Amino acid sequence: MDGAMANQYVQTDLRDFLAAVEAGGELKTVAGAHWDKEIGAVTEVLYREKVDRAPLLLFDEVPGYEKGFRCLYGMLGSPFRLALGMGIDPAGSDDRRAMLDAYRERIKQYKPIPPNVVTEAPILENIDRDDDVDLTKFPVPVHHEKDGGRYIGTACGVITKDPDTGRVNVGTYRVMLNGKNIATSYISNGKQGRIQRDKYLKDGKRCPMVIVVGIDPATYIAARYTLADHIPELDWAGGLSGAPLDVVEGEVTGLPFPARSELVLEGWVSPDETALEGPFGEWTGYYAGAAKEEPVIHIERVYYRNDPILTCAASQKPPHSHLFERCFIRSAGLLDSLEGAGIPDVKGVWVHQAGAGRTFVAVAIKQRYFGHANQVGLVASQVNPIGYVGRYIVVVDDDIDPTDINDVIWAMGTRSDPKRDFTILDRTWSSRLDTMVFDDKLYNSRVVIDACIPYEHIDDFPEVAMTSPELAKEVRTKFPDVFD
Ligand SMILES: Cc1cc2nc3c(=O)[nH]c(=O)nc-3n(C[C@H](O)[C@H](O)[C@H](O)COP(=O)(O)O)c2cc1C
Repeated sequence: MDGAMANQYVQTDLRDFLAAVEAGGELKTVAGAHWDKEIGAVTEVLYREKVDRAPLLLFDEVPGYEKGFRCLYGMLGSPFRLALGMGIDPAGSDDRRAMLDAYRERIKQYKPIPPNVVTEAPILENIDRDDDVDLTKFPVPVHHEKDGGRYIGTACGVITKDPDTGRVNVGTYRVMLNGKNIATSYISNGKQGRIQRDKYLKDGKRCPMVIVVGIDPATYIAARYTLADHIPELDWAGGLSGAPLDVVEGEVTGLPFPARSELVLEGWVSPDETALEGPFGEWTGYYAGAAKEEPVIHIERVYYRNDPILTCAASQKPPHSHLFERCFIRSAGLLDSLEGAGIPDVKGVWVHQAGAGRTFVAVAIKQRYFGHANQVGLVASQVNPIGYVGRYIVVVDDDIDPTDINDVIWAMGTRSDPKRDFTILDRTWSSRLDTMVFDDKLYNSRVVIDACIPYEHIDDFPEVAMTSPELAKEVRTKFPDVFD
């Protein structure tokens, strides 16, 4: 265990996780939905209605495919499932703030644990090699009506290795099929996987790559977490689960991948061949970014368990099946970053669903000094994970619940004055997915809104007109029928 905290809830095998989800009453199997748009549409319509109360969906008996070759959506898409996946007690999962605190407490105990290389593993149950590789044998969905193709990698983990430092990175980056053994991936500028990949390609070398298409919860969380450059992500996933992650080394690249994965592709990114990738319905809520030439990935090995499960995610206009967890994980990441920057008295943060999990962020602080609110807002606007395509950062006092959009807007309307309290930053980090970026200069701007009571008026600001907790308690006790 290497000093790490043992954890009864964390999952490094998707099948154990599914059993726990089923026991909690949140698993629904759907038979007969077609891979071509129907699976994606069923998921979207359900999540639009039920938001983060929708079950995990397991699509089986996909027309044209063997029974047992399944697609999964919404792995971590409810508070209960996210708690299970992250190794915190699911019993507390109804209270977002408490859940974030519990997770933060847990993460403080983390110690990265290097993976353990094994040679026998469930993922080695089936291996297709070279000319036998045919990715269309899996029920790869067209997730949205106007997608440019079938996307095999959505809730996936793309594994690469830095050629200079040897650091292994795992990132969730979309992967499209371009042929039976050819794929392309969109990795946004500045992402660690992109930086690593481009180091090989710029030297005219092919880049080794592994794509974990059916991924376990611990590795998936590591993949989508923006970790500091020096932290090896499989070690971090091990820390998350409290034990070394068993990994297999790929036959052709030697890259490690989790031994209990469901479906893994291994191959090389070409330095001199490209193919059209996209468009894809994205997190912004648009088919933004259009189709673009991306380096081709040649797949030489496909490893899969019997009856493999493809883990999937289709972003679109909020809400969608992975938005709750996205906001939660990014909120935790922002707290890590603010704490790491040594900023005092940050009392809470929330990356809001309405901002598609990136563009609207609230941070609550206990003000301690002149300029504290701006300091927090400016730092929050630049650190991971908000540094990338952030837009609106609102800093509020600690009597405001940052997870409550009504509370935040009330504070903006009563404790900030646009002329004085809005700070605009220009030429900040954006993406070609940003709907407000119209050319190849991938900058945006962002605004930090100081919606805290001006520090010089903290003692003479008007009092909030709201029943005191004492009187509220008294009337609840006195008139119980009213509050039934
Ligand atoms: C479901 C899902 C899909 C994602 N798709 C992409 C993508 O296609 N391209 C991309 O650059 N980032 C994508 N991301 C965001 C990255 O996974 C995320 O920023 C992650 O931290 C990147 O890892 P890195 O910090 O190791 O680069 C996606 C995230 C999720 C949760």
